[in-house]
Amino acid sequence: MGPMDYESNSWMWDGVYNYPHLFGGLMLTAALLGISTSYFSGIGVPSLPFFWSDFGIFQKRKSEKKRIRVYMDGCFDLMHFGHANALRQAKALGDELVVGVVSDEEIIANKGPPVLPMEERLALVSGLKWVDEVIANAPYAITEQFMNRLFNEHKIDYIIHGDDPCLLPDGTDAYALAKKAGRYKQIKRTEGVSSTDIVGRILSSMNDTTNSEDHNATSLNGDSMKGSPSHGALSHFLPTSHRIVQFSNGRGPGPNARIVYIDGAFDLFHAGHIEILKIARQLGDFLLVGIHNDQIVSKLRGKQFPIMHLHERSLSVLGCRYVDEVIIGAPWEITRDMITTFNISLVVHGTVAENNSFAGDSDPYAVPKSMGIFKLLESPKNITTTSIAKRIVANHDAFKKRNAKKVESEKKYYAEKKYICGD
Ligand SMILES: *[C@@H]1O[C@H](CO)[C@@H](O)[C@H](O)[C@H]1NC(C)=O
Ligand SMILES: *[C@@H]1O[C@H](CO)[C@@H](O)[C@H](O)[C@H]1NC(C)=O
Ligand SMILES: *[C@@H]1O[C@H](CO)[C@@H](O)[C@H](O)[C@H]1NC(C)=O
Ligand SMILES: *[C@@H]1O[C@H](CO)[C@@H](O)[C@H](O)[C@H]1NC(C)=O
Ligand SMILES: *[C@@H]1O[C@H](CO)[C@@H](O)[C@H](O)[C@H]1NC(C)=O
Repeated sequence: MGPMDYESNSWMWDGVYNYPHLFGGLMLTAALLGISTSYFSGIGVPSLPFFWSDFGIFQKRKSEKKRIRVYMDGCFDLMHFGHANALRQAKALGDELVVGVVSDEEIIANKGPPVLPMEERLALVSGLKWVDEVIANAPYAITEQFMNRLFNEHKIDYIIHGDDPCLLPDGTDAYALAKKAGRYKQIKRTEGVSSTDIVGRILSSMNDTTNSEDHNATSLNGDSMKGSPSHGALSHFLPTSHRIVQFSNGRGPGPNARIVYIDGAFDLFHAGHIEILKIARQLGDFLLVGIHNDQIVSKLRGKQFPIMHLHERSLSVLGCRYVDEVIIGAPWEITRDMITTFNISLVVHGTVAENNSFAGDSDPYAVPKSMGIFKLLESPKNITTTSIAKRIVANHDAFKKRNAKKVESEKKYYAEKKYICGD
């Protein structure tokens, strides 16, 4: 099984491609038996030939659709849009996505200390719009015992993993058991980002801090700034409109919707962001999120920021289940025109935020405040981008060592990589 199999299967599914919920598990078998898929058009499971009943797992109550449940696990430390994209792809292979989040103890034993504790990693994974269930404290490697638990207790049909090899300490394939059972599917690795890469960006940016007050070339609206973050070369991410479409909900506000607006950098997307977005979403019917461009973030926080570029930050926010739409590169100041354009009913801002003011600058929320549509939200968590970066710096030596090892294998990956079909 490979990503190509999944892609190329879609031609077989043509006739029923719109009913994956109904036929997901059956189609593969139908294809194997050479039965024309058009056979199923317009008819339900009950009229299947008798021999189908021999297939135990397909023996469902007649009225009940078989929902395909897929499982994917990971550490999800420093959750980024690459993780989000992997889970989006996994979800596309079934109807319900169950995600296992590896325990702190297992991460410490296998890779060294995680940057984010279990609670924050759970919040990040649960906040993704493609995730239906999470299993906390999953093991690092899928043992036979855990695999049976997945199949029997959690009713998992397939275990999903990326196309990078995952080896156990003894050198064997971590997914060998699932493969042997025919319950394994593969997705393509997301290009351009990894937690290792992000830790590297943070560590190397911390060496630049001495010049952070040098705003020589920065201008809020000008293009004179050279690139923004000095670590840009580390990013392999190539933003495409296709990826943005995949992440977006693809719909606007309904008639008479109450539109809530929140803006910010949303750098190193974390559990604090998710909590505030959740609260903001509850205040209306449609949550519009403004994401400040790299120049604004650099000017506010110093030239080593943002850690993640505008398009990376936009994807992370778009992946959040509470977000309906984003403005990629939102203006600093909220104008009356903007409020009218988007029919914004309420503008909100969290109490816990990075220092969000330029010296001597006017209040960016002056207009919504004067209109009586501004609300300050009590942030439920006091996590900030800086506090996460500080955790990494505090653990500098451990992370540097762990990263050096990973950087080598990443380099090897990029040197040897070949084109793989899939998305
Ligand atoms: C930061 O700079 C010091 C000395 O200039 C160097 O030894 C260290 O490796 C640098 N750290 C990073 C993460 O680049
Ligand atoms: C700041 O800008 C001035 C004029 O453009 C230039 O002469 C100077 O070298 C710049 N300083 C730095 C640190 O880039
Ligand atoms: C604009 O938003 C308000 C809610 O604040 C809503 O009642 C109104 O119908 C919206 N206008 C349009 C044209 O959708
Ligand atoms: C926030 O930024 C302003 C302007 O740059 C500065 O005067 C103030 O001291 C900063 N506050 C904190 C808590 O860093
Ligand atoms: C955040 O909140 C927790 C608990 O309320 C507290 O222990 C911690 O010191 C706070 N951290 C910061 C940076 O304020």
